[in-house]
Amino acid sequence: MTTLTTSIPVQRVSKSRIKEVDFNNLEFGKYIADHMIVADFKDGKWHEPTIVPYGDMLMSPAMLSLHYGQAVFEGMKAFWTSDKNINIFRPARHAQRFNRSLNRMCMPEVPEEMFVQSLHALIELDKDWIPTSEGSSFYIRPFMFAYEARLGVKVADHFKFIIINSPVAAYQAKPYRLKVEDHYVRTAEGGTGFAKCAGNYGGAFYPTQIAREEGFDQILWTDHKEHKYIDEVGMMNVMFVINGTLVTPQLNTAILDGITRDTILTLAKDMGMKIEERRVSIDEIEAGLKSGAVTEAFGTGTAAVVAPIALINIKGQDLAVPEAGPSSFQLRVKEKLNNIRMGKEADTHQWNYIIPVR
Ligand code: COI
Repeated sequence: MTTLTTSIPVQRVSKSRIKEVDFNNLEFGKYIADHMIVADFKDGKWHEPTIVPYGDMLMSPAMLSLHYGQAVFEGMKAFWTSDKNINIFRPARHAQRFNRSLNRMCMPEVPEEMFVQSLHALIELDKDWIPTSEGSSFYIRPFMFAYEARLGVKVADHFKFIIINSPVAAYQAKPYRLKVEDHYVRTAEGGTGFAKCAGNYGGAFYPTQIAREEGFDQILWTDHKEHKYIDEVGMMNVMFVINGTLVTPQLNTAILDGITRDTILTLAKDMGMKIEERRVSIDEIEAGLKSGAVTEAFGTGTAAVVAPIALINIKGQDLAVPEAGPSSFQLRVKEKLNNIRMGKEADTHQWNYIIPVR
């Protein structure tokens, strides 16, 4: 349990907007909590973060991030535990991934202590916004962007680090229908695929839009050279159960190092499941779905958590994935994860960052 006390200056809202929130109908990311934290990197150093009312900001149309894309974000979650304390899940690991993304984009790292203390102070202040219903959570969005106004192509000198939060329900309730992409690429090895930078998402919109028009929810991205091996889904990593073994694409510079991915692999080991992180070919999944060797396919991600996949379209053929029954690995591991986050099962890996609520 962590019990940091923080002394970040706070400018409170004059009137909370919480009454506007329909907690029974939480569309992902629709509502943003009352406060945000803002810190400036200027003159080669970080300036003290402050908590201010969430709201519009003054920005220059020449701001470098708008033109040359220096923008990075994280996605994380906080929950109420069953004994009514607040749990921020794996904040240190998110801080470390944020910094890896920032490095790739020539942006200044945020010291881990500043990252975690900012989360602590902000979430404690807006704790009434953390939803209580089953499956809901407080989605945390730390991000950074180049704030300097200049049109020359350059690494910016002035950045803003901000955290905003949103009460959310499950990202998508129904199982995913995926299309295997064999033309467009999300990223290439050596590119920015492992980094959570804004451009990875913007570049995926066009092919995803085409897939949506064809009746799919998301794309299953494949390697840029041959479209032969599976990378990830773009909003989540992907896992399969093949002949009883949990199989997932091995990380490379084109795949996001998902924190839920790591959590699920760790829990799978605890549950005695055999694991393989390796290259996974489309041909193997096609053959496995046809023969019955592939018994489960699911996505993992902060927003998606553990999301069942119902169908994979491979070279124009719709291949159904068996429905996940109560004894499926994905439902058992999801329940275990949920129990750990709620404090109902021992947190043996020290993933929970608990803010005690008096
Ligand atoms: C997350 O799971 O945090 C993601 O990155 C998905 C998001 C873009 C909604």
